[in-house]
Amino acid sequence: MKGIFITFEGNEGSGKTTVIQAIKEMLVSSGVSVTLTREPGGSKIAEQIRNIILDKNNVEMDAKTEALLLAAARKQHLVEVVLPALKQNHIVLCDRYVDSSLAYQGYARGIGIEEVYEMNLFATDHLLPNLTIYIDITPELGLNRIASNNRNVNRLDLENLKFHQLVHEGYAIIQNMFPNRIVRVDGNQSKEKVIEDSKQIVMTFLNRK
Ligand code: TYD
Repeated sequence: MKGIFITFEGNEGSGKTTVIQAIKEMLVSSGVSVTLTREPGGSKIAEQIRNIILDKNNVEMDAKTEALLLAAARKQHLVEVVLPALKQNHIVLCDRYVDSSLAYQGYARGIGIEEVYEMNLFATDHLLPNLTIYIDITPELGLNRIASNNRNVNRLDLENLKFHQLVHEGYAIIQNMFPNRIVRVDGNQSKEKVIEDSKQIVMTFLNRK
């Protein structure tokens, strides 16, 4: 089997991390080699860039600076982690990728989805995922889940509800731009059901290959 690149997207608190872990376990137990990783970060240099992006003290960061740093971290992570794993025929499961930049920087920050997309095509040498699972949770519910999870709060979490609503609107637009690649899961359901639906989508995709 050739390497397959699967990404996971959604608003804060959508449960991506739990879903990815469950999918990893499912694939590993069926004997597939899996690389699980996340953005921004996932390699030494990319984690250093991540710290600059998410530092709560960097309140003066410009939107384009943020988008460029994310794209820089993305490229480094591709070269060091994703591409080598794909070359070894792994299934790469990545927590966030280009679509996050389109929703957060392109739409919610107002740079423009098309502009950020162009920049990311440059940064990634046009490497888009084979499949993207979008966990669609209403921002209010997502933020409530984070608040009750005790997760570390970063600079983007501190944005107001309006920002997270824009991110959510952005994802809806992006889903329409890439209907063949992005598959939506209803993230407002129970955690078990979100996991079950996501597993089903991955299995259907792999069986079609
Ligand atoms: P992280 O702690 O990894 O949060 P999450 O569990 O929600 O993925 O923080 C990543 C933050 O960076 C998150 O708020 C989304 C944001 N982000 C962007 O704004 N653009 C991007 O391209 C990426 C990859 C992340």
